[in-house]
Amino acid sequence: MALPAHVKIVDVGPRDGLQNEKQPVPAAVKIELVHRLQQAGLSQIEVTSYVSPKWVPQMADNAEVMAGIARQPGVRYAVLTPNLKGFEAALASRPDEVVVFGSASEAFSQRNINCSVAESIERFAPVVQAALAAGITVHGAMSCTVGCPYEGDVPPRRVDYLAGLMKGIGVQHIGVCDTIGVGTPLQVQRALEATLRHYPLHEISGHFHDTYGQALANTLACMQLGVSQFDTSVAGLGGCPYARGATGNVATEDVVFMLQGMGIDTGIDLELLVDAGRFISQHLGRPPQSRAATALLNRRAG
Ligand code: HMG
Ligand code: MG
Repeated sequence: MALPAHVKIVDVGPRDGLQNEKQPVPAAVKIELVHRLQQAGLSQIEVTSYVSPKWVPQMADNAEVMAGIARQPGVRYAVLTPNLKGFEAALASRPDEVVVFGSASEAFSQRNINCSVAESIERFAPVVQAALAAGITVHGAMSCTVGCPYEGDVPPRRVDYLAGLMKGIGVQHIGVCDTIGVGTPLQVQRALEATLRHYPLHEISGHFHDTYGQALANTLACMQLGVSQFDTSVAGLGGCPYARGATGNVATEDVVFMLQGMGIDTGIDLELLVDAGRFISQHLGRPPQSRAATALLNRRAG
């Protein structure tokens, strides 16, 4: 299989990246981050989530952040909506895409969204219906497609099962997520193949956390099977509050550097992207968790 000529990058930094920050990040900083990402050429940004503020306080300013964004034509703004309550709250913010998020493992489903996998599908079904009726695209994220922080290894048949359920309720696009970043390339390819039983390649994206340093290799392994869309996080921000010790998604800068070097178009300006990563990293008081960004910043300084 030839590698894709174009790869779509969705930056999930404002949501997945910041949701686990202990100190509140002001809405104005989140808005500025979104502005910088769109200036850098990102065509889709996962901005926030409409979840319980008791569970994830950092995302409690969802409506304020969405309202504060000066939207750029051609850019799509996505938000997480775990149930109808979240979707109804999100609707006023006019998202282009909503994300329902389930888990291939039962234990993570219980910890993350407080229900079983089967119950989660019952909660998602009315969200999907309402979103489609409103002309909003629905993305389904499948967590723990290779490993679970509570159950260990997750076999591909669990991914097959969840992808089939997501397809059955009308979810249009599906994400194969390695929540805790334990997957290695062949394992991730197996999870992808299980997903391919239900979704075509162009409706599948990869979402790889980089806890064990495997995310870039996993990205390439998926591209070799024809995947051309990935969630990444500027400056490698992030982690999930219900996956202790898991670090952020693969850094957007690292993926863009790799793709540029391979002659694969992303539409992203790497220097402006590095600036966006530096902006949020300075706010958080730590260096960007991106090898490419660090190297480029060192080169500028030198
Ligand atoms: P629940 O307790 O089962 O829900 O929570 P409930 O319907 O029984 O309601 C309980 C309370 O929550 C009520 O409030 C509801 O009003 C409120 P109370 O009466 O106690 O004051 N509530 C809500 N409030 C705001 N927005 C809502 C909402 N729904 C209920 N949408 C729920 C279920 C999903 C809400 C909860 O478990 C939750 O918020 N969990 C947080 C999930 C989360 O944000 N996790 C991190 C993101 S997922 C992730 O990072 C993985 C991903 O990146 C992919 C990967 O890497 O694997 C996507
Ligand atoms: Mg994630």
